[in-house]
Parts: sequence; C-alpha cells; structure tokens
Amino acid sequence: MIPSQKTGLAGIVIRMVRRVTSIAIARGQAMPENMTDSIADAFSQTARDAVYRALFTRRDVRSHFLPDALDDEVLARLLLAAHHAPSVGFMQPWNFIVIRDAARRAEVRDLFLAAREQELPAIEEERQALYRKLKLEGICESALNICITCDRQRSKGSPLGRWHNPEMDLYSTVCAVQNFWLAARAEGVGVGWVSIIETQALKRLLAIPDHVMPIAYLCVGRVSEFAPKPDLETHGWGRRLPLPELIMSETFCGQGEARLKSAVAHLNSDAVEPASPADQRVAPAVSQREPPKEESALSLSSLNFDDASASRASQAGSGTWPAIVLK
Ligand SMILES: Cc1cc2nc3c(=O)[nH]c(=O)nc-3n(C[C@H](O)[C@H](O)[C@H](O)COP(=O)(O)O)c2cc1C
Repeated sequence: MIPSQKTGLAGIVIRMVRRVTSIAIARGQAMPENMTDSIADAFSQTARDAVYRALFTRRDVRSHFLPDALDDEVLARLLLAAHHAPSVGFMQPWNFIVIRDAARRAEVRDLFLAAREQELPAIEEERQALYRKLKLEGICESALNICITCDRQRSKGSPLGRWHNPEMDLYSTVCAVQNFWLAARAEGVGVGWVSIIETQALKRLLAIPDHVMPIAYLCVGRVSEFAPKPDLETHGWGRRLPLPELIMSETFCGQGEARLKSAVAHLNSDAVEPASPADQRVAPAVSQREPPKEESALSLSSLNFDDASASRASQAGSGTWPAIVLK
C-alpha cells in the first residue's frame, strides 16, 4: 500500500506531517527529502543505502575545512536531526550553543592547547612525539563551533529511567551528537569533536551553569574532502578492531555465535579483496553541495564499507570519497 492510500491513524499522521512539511517548504524551510515516507513505511533500498552511506563515510574532521560560511538553513536541519535523538524519559536534556565569534574561539583553542600539554605526560612515552604531531582540532578554521550541553535538571522531579542510572541523560545527549554528526555527513558538512579541553574552564568561558554539562565541543563547516579512513589510523595511532573479536555470546566473554561472527568476518574479508575495475564504483568527490546521485543497484548485502577498500580505491585515483565497492 502506498502512503497516500493509508487509512486510520497512520494515514492521519502521514497527512498531518505532509501538511506541516508543505507549510515549512512554503515558508522556505526545506525539510529533508522524503521525510514523511519514513513515518510508517519500510525504507526503500536506496533510502537504506543512504543511511549506511552516511554511517560508514562519516569522519571526524579537523583539517580540510573550507572558508565558506555554513547556511543557517543547513545548520537548522542538522540541529533538527540532533533534536530528534532518543532520550531517557523523553527528557531532551540538550542545548546547542552556537559559537561564531573568532575571539571566543581563539580562547577555546587556548584551552585546547593547555589541555593538550596537560594530557601529554599521560601518553606512553614512545607515542608522545606522534601525539604532538596529530591535528586534534579545527576550532578556528571551521565555519563555526557548537557546544552541545546536557541540562541535568531538565526533568528534575521525574527521573524516569534515571533513578538507578542517573548518567542516562549524558548518554542521551551523546545520541544527539551522533545524529548531528551523521546528518552533517549527509549534507557534506564536516564535524570534529574536541574533547581535549578542561571542562570547568570551558564552562566559565561559555557561561554554562553548574547543573549543565558540556558534552561535545564540535567544529563544524564545509570541507574539501572526507578522509577515507580515520585520521588516527592514517597516522598510525590506532586501527579498527576486528568486529568478530568483540562479539560475545550470552555472557561477557561467552564463546559462541560462530555463524554470526563468520557473517561479520565475511563482510570485512570481502572488502579487502581487490575489486575488478568493472565491479568497482566509487562515489564522486565529496566537496559537493548536492547529495550524491543514488546508486540504484546498491543493497546492504552488496556493500563493502571497509576502510581498506576505501583507501585502496582512493589511492588508485578513484576520488577522495571513501569508496563504496560494489560486488
Ligand atoms: C567522545 C569523543 C571525543 C573525541 N575527541 C576528539 C578530540 O579531542 N580530538 C580529535 O581530534 N578527535 C576526537 N574525537 C574523534 C576520534 O578521534 C575519532 O572519532 C576516531 O579517531 C575515529 O575516526 P572517525 O570518527 O573519523 O571514524 C573524539 C571522538 C569522540 C566520539
């Protein structure tokens, strides 16, 4: 049944959302395409592929920021995505501090530099030289910064879901951060999370009250490219752990789930096998303002998202977009 034929409550909801969407569009507030389709219907294959594409090609970005301003319309969509994150007891404990002022950002960067010096001695001695070389922020180069905070008192008298686990409001806010990050990737906007900042100093600088916790300090802006793999992997700091080794059965460290592990390993091993040029399609360079053309033949089972294949395709001159290799 197509959405327009839906009756009953689902039909009413769909019609209401469509009405709100058309009003928003009429007011010039473009909403994400096909947003209403997701209310009651299964995702189409292309929609599913788009979700996985955002997930697997998202990057933490600290370099490659362009000097371009970020449109408020785009930023509005990212914030709306963040605001639709799950939250404990529907608490929605987040706020979004938008920081554009260059002088204030320079002060935040000073906090970063100080915090990095304080963190350095805690790093293994043989890795300290590498640590110093890593670019770990893009505070001043990005179009703007956003601090996403968690108001720990937002639903003070009704700690639904937080009586035993009061930290759940913090986790909820992290969900908002991830929504923001993924939506940004889909919009071609880079996001870099800077955590090397002393919290109290940041709170003072941004006038954040005691009961509010800064969760994420984000550098946000248009970028010239998204790297095919994590910067920390490129620079030899770490590698993605093998997923099968992280899966346990029934209890912590429980053995088992051999078939699942093998299925997971198959996804990875497929990805590192060289794909023939005819079989390999790579999405275009990422600096585009428009979403990439959808690959009609994409399906989850035929997608390889492994960083190694992405990197290989990229090195082969296929483009800067993390490659999605199709079987
Ligand atoms: C909670 C959190 C804090 C982070 N803090 C920093 C940071 O201070 N500086 C930095 O360069 N990257 C930071 N990152 C980004 C990670 O280094 C990055 O996510 C990881 O290396 C994997 O790369 P990817 O996000 O591009 O896949 C942070 C990420 C998270 C989730």
